Amino acid sequence: MTTATEPDPGIFLSPEYASNPYPTLKHLRDHHPVYFNPVMKQWMVTRYEDVMNIFADTENFSASPNGEHIGAVFGPTLMEYDGEKHHKLRALVAPEFVGVNLKALLPIVTRNAMSLIEKFTEKHAAQIAENASVRGEIDIVDDFATRLPLNVILDVLDLPQEAHEMFHQWYPAMMNGINGGPELRIAGQKANAEYHAYLDPLIDERSRNPGADLLSRLSIAEVNGARMTPEEIKSFASLILVAGAETTDKAIANLWYQLLANPDQWQLVQDDPELLDHAFTEMMRIHPPAAGQTRKTIRDYTLHGVTIPADSYVHLSIYGANRDERVFTDPDRFDLNREDLYFARDLRGGWFKDGMAGHLGFGLGPHFCAGYQLARAETVIGTKLLMEVIRNPRFKPGSNPTPIAIRIEPWHLHLEFDAA
Ligand code: HEM
Repeated sequence: MTTATEPDPGIFLSPEYASNPYPTLKHLRDHHPVYFNPVMKQWMVTRYEDVMNIFADTENFSASPNGEHIGAVFGPTLMEYDGEKHHKLRALVAPEFVGVNLKALLPIVTRNAMSLIEKFTEKHAAQIAENASVRGEIDIVDDFATRLPLNVILDVLDLPQEAHEMFHQWYPAMMNGINGGPELRIAGQKANAEYHAYLDPLIDERSRNPGADLLSRLSIAEVNGARMTPEEIKSFASLILVAGAETTDKAIANLWYQLLANPDQWQLVQDDPELLDHAFTEMMRIHPPAAGQTRKTIRDYTLHGVTIPADSYVHLSIYGANRDERVFTDPDRFDLNREDLYFARDLRGGWFKDGMAGHLGFGLGPHFCAGYQLARAETVIGTKLLMEVIRNPRFKPGSNPTPIAIRIEPWHLHLEFDAA
């Protein structure tokens, strides 16, 4: 084990780390691949191979910490369960968002993207005419990214689009309740309770007269021969709302950020929009929406000569793993043509194929993201359609654009473009 200096724990609370954790994560990878973070009170694992192995290791690691923050706001969901209990619940929902079921969702994605773009183009045509401006402006976050995934989930659950603004306020409040301090936790629980109260009569009605929507299907689904309780259905509906919206919004904004921050790569997708699929994968590697996931050791676990005691929290750093130079050459470079990244279908197993590695942005193993294909479809389809209507987009001068991770502060990505 190397003796290089451990980072000053203060770094983990600094704005410097919040805006760019990568130099610290590199130091950990190189010198302290298993590091006890006294601020987070968690062990941090930052190398690709280690993160991949632990995600897949259900003998030694439990997903129970998901219950302590996500469960505290939503109520219990499959994310906090291990083994058979997890498997049964997952079997209910995972098929909803992949394969033939995903195909049925694609027109919903396109329709919602088109409808947002129409609204946006009308608003901007009016503004441009009014100000006789030759430039248009868009906040990718507020005009598009935080709207599209939410609208798609509302359609999947068959909840009214007219109530969009109410959901638009609930879902970030719920997410902040998961990640924030006590006040935000209470605000998140309040938003969740309002959402659940809204769902109560709908679940009641749909369990008697089910439709084709997901809420109806959950209302009549059986696990172990018994129907899910209304509480279980509602926690799950919270998970889907927040997991579906709060991550994909950042994926869309981050894709735009990475492409515009790297004009040569933007040119590639301009010339061939099919490359947006590669761009999504490379964005999920270089700066995905989720920085990492937490697990708990079931028993003592030794890695690189360090023993993590049983019942310890372990932070699996997706950010650290995805920039591991042991796997990805020049990992800080956003490159649609890299030869070391597996660009095809996201790998639930993360295995290397022909020397290529999958990104870990959707996690791995039994809890691998259930919405991975939908998230990709929304980001790629939405971006492609939006690219067709905004000409020569660039960061708005003075707007300090940054890539986004799940976080509490308000966020924006202001662009300007040429009026047609
Ligand atoms: C780019 C967007 C997304 C990202 C970055 C993302 C990321 C993740 C990650 C890292 C996990 C693993 C959690 C763990 O290991 O503890 C996860 C799980 C999950 N995601 Fe996503 N997600 C995205 C989009 C979606 C969408 C669109 C949906 C649903 C429509 C969704 C539903 C879920 C569910 C239900 C789980 C729990 C699976 C389980 O515990 O078995 N996600 N997601």
